[in-house]
Amino acid sequence: MLLQIPEVFSKAEVKALRERLDAGPWADGNMTSGHQSATAKRNQQLPEDSDVAREVSSLVVQALNANPMFVAAALPHTIFPPLFNRYEGGGEFGLHVDNAIRQQRGGGVRIRSDLSATLFLSEPEDYDGGELIIEEMYGPQSVKLPAGDLVLYPSKSLHKVMPVTRGARVSSFMWMQSLIRDDGDREMLFRLDVATQRVGLEKGPKDQAVIELTGVYHNLLRRWSEV
Ligand code: NI
Repeated sequence: MLLQIPEVFSKAEVKALRERLDAGPWADGNMTSGHQSATAKRNQQLPEDSDVAREVSSLVVQALNANPMFVAAALPHTIFPPLFNRYEGGGEFGLHVDNAIRQQRGGGVRIRSDLSATLFLSEPEDYDGGELIIEEMYGPQSVKLPAGDLVLYPSKSLHKVMPVTRGARVSSFMWMQSLIRDDGDREMLFRLDVATQRVGLEKGPKDQAVIELTGVYHNLLRRWSEV
């Protein structure tokens, strides 16, 4: 499932984050790539151990953990510290699949990447190109969102970033391990959660059906989750 999560950050928050990021020590993006992607990637990144990357990264994680739609859809177990990239002057990232396992340098966090996400930090009208193209079962999906919005998609999907031919595209990108490994199982839980909440709004939280549906949700989560 590919899901757009609006307004992870407000426009004012994006502006403040961009001021810090833009002044950071940008470097060649191939420092985080695996062998396959290193040949396909032309962009810049902030070194993961730079102060600005660490500070803004933890703000992104805080915002995600406080976002009910993100938590319901991703059911995150561990979010690998988000990174930051910038594409300009024809920069692009050719078709690839993200590495299955991510290990922080120096023996930190290690995750299996179940979900990938891109948080857009440039307004779409400020650059040409730069669409994130995600190969879904029903064909390629093109994603270019307002600043502050995030797209969440399965890490197993082939994807690419189109060349940026005008302006600059700044974003935060990240991987996470989910409590629910299987995308289909996770999507069913999300739909059950959303539907139960909808019924709850209509009938009130003490309605018998709402209580039973909530029970089914938690019992499926209990059955399927890896904690
Ligand atoms: Ni990727």
